[in-house]
Amino acid sequence: MKAELLYEGKAKKVYRSSAYSNQLVLSYKNDATAFNGKKKASFIGKGRLNNEISSLIFPYLHERGIRSHFIQRLNDTEQVVLETKIIPLEVVVRNLATGSITKRLGFQERTPFEPALVELFYKNDDLDDPIINDDHALLLTDITSKELREIKVKALEINTALRELFQSINLKLVDFKLEFGRLPDGSIVLSDEISPDTCRLWDMETDAKMDKDVFRQDIGDLVTVYEQILERLEARV
Ligand code: C5P
Repeated sequence: MKAELLYEGKAKKVYRSSAYSNQLVLSYKNDATAFNGKKKASFIGKGRLNNEISSLIFPYLHERGIRSHFIQRLNDTEQVVLETKIIPLEVVVRNLATGSITKRLGFQERTPFEPALVELFYKNDDLDDPIINDDHALLLTDITSKELREIKVKALEINTALRELFQSINLKLVDFKLEFGRLPDGSIVLSDEISPDTCRLWDMETDAKMDKDVFRQDIGDLVTVYEQILERLEARV
């Protein structure tokens, strides 16, 4: 099904599908990186877990009218997606202050953001993904100001849907990162992945961190935590 390797990122490889010209195969790797690649490790099972978790979340969002590149899970570590041209923006949505915003702007840990806060980062490893404003985003990408407004509205809709999903499995959605891509017809859809690598999730009862922060902060076993997320998602009917 997969053929030519198009791109290898920190957490995934992207292949062109040999079956369909407008489809790609995303292959989830076991590698984990943090602090823009400065901390690295590999965890057996991580690729499968993120592939399976993402493959449950995208269909959930589809049911709520949120289009994405996702087509189907192919096997343990791979999924088939529509080919998009990735817009080099990381769209971060925050419900509670933690992580970079506490250091950058001095917000107290756990300050609630109501409505949720949307931040834009320029997806550029050489520049360490700097935070940017809307005007920068328009200069650095090919999106129009109307499309940027739509992306932000979509990010908040996705936040509402994901908060509901995670709440139903006893998890607080603290913050997360989204990427969007352009389809050949010009429309913009949600792309990349949604997994504990890209979301901060805290257990509703214990407040335990159940995401990549366990690796970033060396406070637990990543695979055990990701397995629990998958189990809770699968048990949800
Ligand atoms: O580090 P920061 O607090 O800005 O991260 C906000 C959210 O975006 C976190 O959920 C984090 O996992 C996610 N993120 C990501 N990829 C990045 C940067 C942040 O998935 N390159």
